[in-house]
Parts: sequence; C-alpha cells; structure tokens
Amino acid sequence: MTQHVCIVVGLAWGDEGKGKIVNSIAPNFDVVCRWNGGANAGHTVYIDGKKLKTHLVPTGIFSGKKCVIGPGCVVNVDKFLEEISYLRSNGFDTSLVKVSPRAHIITEAHVRYDNYYLKEKLGTTGNGIAPCYSDKMMRKGVLAREALPKEFLWDEKLEGKILCEGAQSVWLDIDHGNYPYVTSSSTLPYSACSLGFTHKDIHRVIGVAKIYDTRSGNDPIEFPESLWGQELLDRIIEEGQEYGTTTGRKRKVNWLFLPKLIKAINLCGVDELIINKCDVLEKIGYFRLYDAGEMLEFSSLEEMENYIVKEIHEKTKVNDVIFSSNKDGI
Ligand code: IMP
Ligand code: MG
Repeated sequence: MTQHVCIVVGLAWGDEGKGKIVNSIAPNFDVVCRWNGGANAGHTVYIDGKKLKTHLVPTGIFSGKKCVIGPGCVVNVDKFLEEISYLRSNGFDTSLVKVSPRAHIITEAHVRYDNYYLKEKLGTTGNGIAPCYSDKMMRKGVLAREALPKEFLWDEKLEGKILCEGAQSVWLDIDHGNYPYVTSSSTLPYSACSLGFTHKDIHRVIGVAKIYDTRSGNDPIEFPESLWGQELLDRIIEEGQEYGTTTGRKRKVNWLFLPKLIKAINLCGVDELIINKCDVLEKIGYFRLYDAGEMLEFSSLEEMENYIVKEIHEKTKVNDVIFSSNKDGI
C-alpha cells in the first residue's frame, strides 16, 4: 500500500522549533512517529498557554494521535515510563503511545559510561545515547520487546497519513555532522524509512530552521566558547531564551551561516522551509548573516528575509519559505 508520509526535519543543530511545527500540523495526520534518537531530544510546545515538554514521545500525543517510537530509536525504560506518567497526569491519552519491539534499550551502564567518558569531552546530553547505539551495532543490545510492558509494544502496522518528527537535525547527524561533535543516529529524512515505508512514499519534507544559529553541547571548531560574551549574541541568548530543553545549558549563538542552511536544505530535499524566531532579531534590532565569506548587514528584517528568499530560490528546490515569529503561535 502506498502511504502518505510527511517529514519534519531540523536543518541546523537542533532547537529550531520542530515541536511547534509538528504540533500545529499533527491534527491533519493519523500517526506521528519518531525515527531516531532518544530522550536526548527536547520538544517544547505551548497548549492553551501551558508549557509542555516531551523528550521521547512524539508531540502528536498533544493532538490525540497514535504515536510511534520507531526501531531506529533508543529507549530508557524509566525515563519513558516517567514521561508517560507526566503526559497522563496532564490529561493526555497515553494508550496511543507505541514503541517498536526492535527499538533498543538504554541501560544504566550506558548512562554511566556516557556521563563518565563522553559528557565532558563531547558535551553529550548524558542520556547514554552513544553507548546504546554502540551496543546495537555490536549486536549485543537489549530490544524493547524484552524490556517494555506489552501494552506499549507497536504491532508494526503503519497506515493512513503519517507524520515523522525529526530529532537532533542535520548537523548533528552521525554521517553529515562535524564528527565527533555529533549524535549517534541518522537525522536525515531518508532515515525515516526505517519505520517501514520507502522513499517513494515521502510526499513532503518540511525543513525547520532558525534565523540565527545555535548549538547546545560542544563543538570547539564551529561554535567556539568565544561566541559567549559578545554583546549582541548574548542579547540573542536572552531574547530567544536559548537554554537547553533537556539539559538547561546555555546555548552558543551565532549569526546565520546561510551556505550551511542551503546545504542542509539540499541534503534533505526540503519542499517547504520554515524559518523561526524572526522576532528575536527584531527585538535586538540587528539583522546579520554570513554569506559568500563575509558578514552581511541589513537595515531591516524584511531586507534580510528578501535576501534569504532570493538565495534559497536560486540554490535549492524549495517551493515556499515561511518566516515565523514566536508570537505567530505556530
Ligand atoms: P548525545 O546525543 O547526547 O550523544 O549528544 C551529542 C551532541 O548532540 C551534543 O552536542 C548534544 O548537545 C547534541 N544534542 C543531542 N540531542 C540534541 C537535541 O535534541 N537538540 C540539540 N542538541 C542535541
Ligand atoms: Mg530541542
């Protein structure tokens, strides 16, 4: 059966506002799925003014949709059950949440190894992600079907209109990111096919970006610590509240590096592009980006947006570019 699949993918280093977009379009779908990563992600949405977070469960749960955590994901049983109780106590129907029997289980030993050996060196979230994927590849991992209560196991049927929610984004991808400052999963849309459909079933790819770049965790080459303490960038951190959903860490911020965004769009085959948090630049009153080897300065947000649209239409196959502000509520 041909399926109808839409994919939402982050085009930077995470934290572009994917959760907000997925939450706004989820009512049009039957199933919302995660295909990669684990509770290292942090998706924040506002429902009736209330701030809600998920780390592993797809944000489709807020729209009462069936939610699937795919075979490419990694699951910490305690954290998963904690998230289930949190969602249930907030009034959501958690019987909709299903985990692939072939997802891998993050053990105590994975978490300990990550925190002891990797967290400081690589700036990981300390969730045991790398050791768990490592055991998966060594073929000595523990599968969800051996560790999760039966009620949560997915029957591996995927029908109807399917929305896939990316986590961790293009530049944290194990193959395409700045290794070793990456995560241990595949974050690009093709990898969503691990859920059980083919690339031909993907009808639409929505790419989510932000009008400036941010990075949580370490990358001494692309995001040196010297980015902190620069007055305008520090103001972006405060106006944009650039603190990690999962770790609470202050993110490093830089002006948008446009050639990298264009590369991400082309790697993912993006049809529609959403650029979030434009209001933050408006609040600080500076409109800058890097392109063609230099920093360009614009006199207004509109002028900057026009430049971005022109470059994107010239260099990618994107149909629509939507600029969004937090206040737009999407
Ligand atoms: P890990 O995925 O916990 O191993 O962390 C590897 C790198 O990816 C670190 O730099 C993390 O800060 C970063 N990272 C992992 N998940 C996310 C996310 O959801 N948003 C932003 N950064 C992330
Ligand atoms: Mg996040």
